[in-house]
Amino acid sequence: MKHNWKFKKGEMNDAYRVDFDDSDFRIVSVPHDYAIEGPFSPDNDKQGEKVEADGIHDKITHVGRTGALPITDWAWYRKEFFVDKDAKNVFLEFDGIMCNSTIYVNETEVGGRIYGYSSFSVDITSACKFGENNLLAISVRPEGNASRWYPGAGVYRNVRLVQKGSEYFPYLPLFIRPAVKGDCAEVAFDINVATNEQEYMLDVAIYDQEGKLVASQKYTSTKAKFSGELELENYHLWEILNSYLYTFEAKLYIKGKEADIAITKFGIRTIDYGPDKGLYINNKYTKLNGVCMHHDLGALGAVVNISAINRQIEKLIDIGVNAIRFSHNPPSPEYLDACDRYGIVTIDEAFDEWKIQKVSNGYGKHFNQEGEKDIRTMVKRDRNHPSIIMWSIGNEILEQRLIYGWKYAKFLSDICHEEDPTRPTTAGFNNTEGAFTNGLAAEVDIVGANYKPHQYVRFHNTYPDAVLYGSETSSCLSSRGHYYLPKRYPSIAEPMEDLQMCSYDMEGPAWAYYPEREIYVQKKNDYLLGEFVWTGFDYLGEPTPYRLEWPSRSSYFGIYDLAGLKKDRAYSYMSAWTDKEFIHILPHWNWNEGDVVDIHCYTHAKEAELFVNGVSHGIKHKDENDELLSNRLIWKYIKFVPGEITVVAQDKTKMSATIKTAGEPAQIKITPERTEIKADGEDLIYFVLEILDKDGVLCPKANNRVDLTVDGGEYVAADAGDATSLRMFTEPYCEAFSGKLVAIAKSAAAGTLTLKATAPELGEATAKIQVK
Ligand code: GAL
Repeated sequence: MKHNWKFKKGEMNDAYRVDFDDSDFRIVSVPHDYAIEGPFSPDNDKQGEKVEADGIHDKITHVGRTGALPITDWAWYRKEFFVDKDAKNVFLEFDGIMCNSTIYVNETEVGGRIYGYSSFSVDITSACKFGENNLLAISVRPEGNASRWYPGAGVYRNVRLVQKGSEYFPYLPLFIRPAVKGDCAEVAFDINVATNEQEYMLDVAIYDQEGKLVASQKYTSTKAKFSGELELENYHLWEILNSYLYTFEAKLYIKGKEADIAITKFGIRTIDYGPDKGLYINNKYTKLNGVCMHHDLGALGAVVNISAINRQIEKLIDIGVNAIRFSHNPPSPEYLDACDRYGIVTIDEAFDEWKIQKVSNGYGKHFNQEGEKDIRTMVKRDRNHPSIIMWSIGNEILEQRLIYGWKYAKFLSDICHEEDPTRPTTAGFNNTEGAFTNGLAAEVDIVGANYKPHQYVRFHNTYPDAVLYGSETSSCLSSRGHYYLPKRYPSIAEPMEDLQMCSYDMEGPAWAYYPEREIYVQKKNDYLLGEFVWTGFDYLGEPTPYRLEWPSRSSYFGIYDLAGLKKDRAYSYMSAWTDKEFIHILPHWNWNEGDVVDIHCYTHAKEAELFVNGVSHGIKHKDENDELLSNRLIWKYIKFVPGEITVVAQDKTKMSATIKTAGEPAQIKITPERTEIKADGEDLIYFVLEILDKDGVLCPKANNRVDLTVDGGEYVAADAGDATSLRMFTEPYCEAFSGKLVAIAKSAAAGTLTLKATAPELGEATAKIQVK
């Protein structure tokens, strides 16, 4: 169900009708996000609210909060699909529709879902015509003031047509519960079977990662829910960054004839934790070096794309990330599959609101009716993923402040335990004290504290039974490669005239703090399970601190920018979380003669020496007793003179890094991130473009417009990570930001794909990759 969907925005109340004239609908492929097509406007979902969650206590008009994209337009999708004449039960499975969807088959309303992040299945058997074409029509009716970030719009995740016989495995039939028992692994499973109590035979098999059969068993039963257990004598553990995935396969036989098959991947791993001992995965002490991630994929919008997901994960691994918290909603199944494959542990989170709303059309208004269904679906859909180590019942839910808030927490936590007794529950509490005193914290197994590095010790002493971690940390703000002089280190970010943020990594909103504060506290306290930085990548929407100012439409919180380029901060985490040896210097070295500049350096080395044009400015040492200086080196008040700055690490490996003063922009350098992609029309190649001077030095302020064309493939989008850009991502050009930009392409045909980049003042550059 990927191609040949017809799509149009508008109300069109009768677009569910078979004879509806859809000749002016356009053809799209699904997954599809219609809001990312834009245009950006401050009037899109302008929110006039006070948002206590953001520290906004008065009503203000907030522009760009949901990305300044047209997310509130209503729309229709229509698609013809064929149903086999022999099918007996027919379903449509949706991984998520954003949002308030109603689904019709041949004019009959068959279902829909309010929450855009929930997966669901619709039984369309009675509405179907067998052996014929059928018409699926979907209406999507998002509301304004319903989200605190960019949600996307439309059928933005995958859809499947599922045709079954009379006896079959229903939606999400399997729950695999592997457990380590000494030298063996016991793989318990539950499976749902729809057979009307007829006798059936189950043929169950487990295959290892190489596809070799490692266990099998046959059972006979009449039960609608069957439970069994297989044993693996020699088993491989699923480990962080060393994943091992088994395949579980169940075949259903009725009177000796195969009727259905159910397949899922699973992994074997243990988790153990305690208030004093911290976290152990497979009996190894583990600190979660995590990031929070919203679901959009930058220039692609909210659509699911596996190669864009892989790229995010690989970039996060590069800086030492081993965990992702999907904030504040269940991610796509593909994202969880990818975390399973890469060996990244995850927190699957259900909600950003329970009953008390943060925005006037927020989920809270549906919570009573939909909440139980949505959280059950999350757990049922996702419980076979080895990557998931906790179920989060909510983020900064406002019920923390209520003395009866614990009732909600208990209700939701109990549902998670009921659907999955193997995993702990958690929540991200920003009013952590309130969560403790009002009893919410006691209802989850692991207590997440948002932005509380200064209070962990007190919580640990006051509530000695609580298992603690930083569910959201830092919220530092920066624009990649962008700095202001005279240098400013306000701890609360001040809006700047150009609507960017300074990349010295020192500022954020009132609750925020520089990365080193959390890194420091986490390193000192083994009982803390780790942290989840807000956020791994910039995302569309929430352009804090610019709430009134325009244009600004995406976040500045990311360790990577929206285009997936490293900000300076990436190196702070790299030095704290990896063993890599490197030196990263900031800022750039293109100032006015006489300017006084502070030079910061992120490095693995404990000490390093700064030279300006060969003249030493002294050695700086990391200071284990100082939060900030335990993870960065700072040389203050260095007078700018054109030339170069070099930092030499005074470590066993003599290493150095240099930044030179760049001349005028003169050329474009293109670096493809991969040498080869698949010819499937979905795999993506990302090219990094840099604007260099004639000597090959990066021009750190270059913002040249570069025109982009693709030969042997299709141009997809480009982005430079500039939160103030109002250019649509799919335009075949892009202005560089801080000297860089990223272009994305794909191809459905094997051969050579070439990106050509031109700018009148820079000439032409090309790069080629193979499509196979
Ligand atoms: C948190 C919130 C996040 C995001 C973040 C920005 O309080 O949970 O969704 O808004 O602040 O700093």
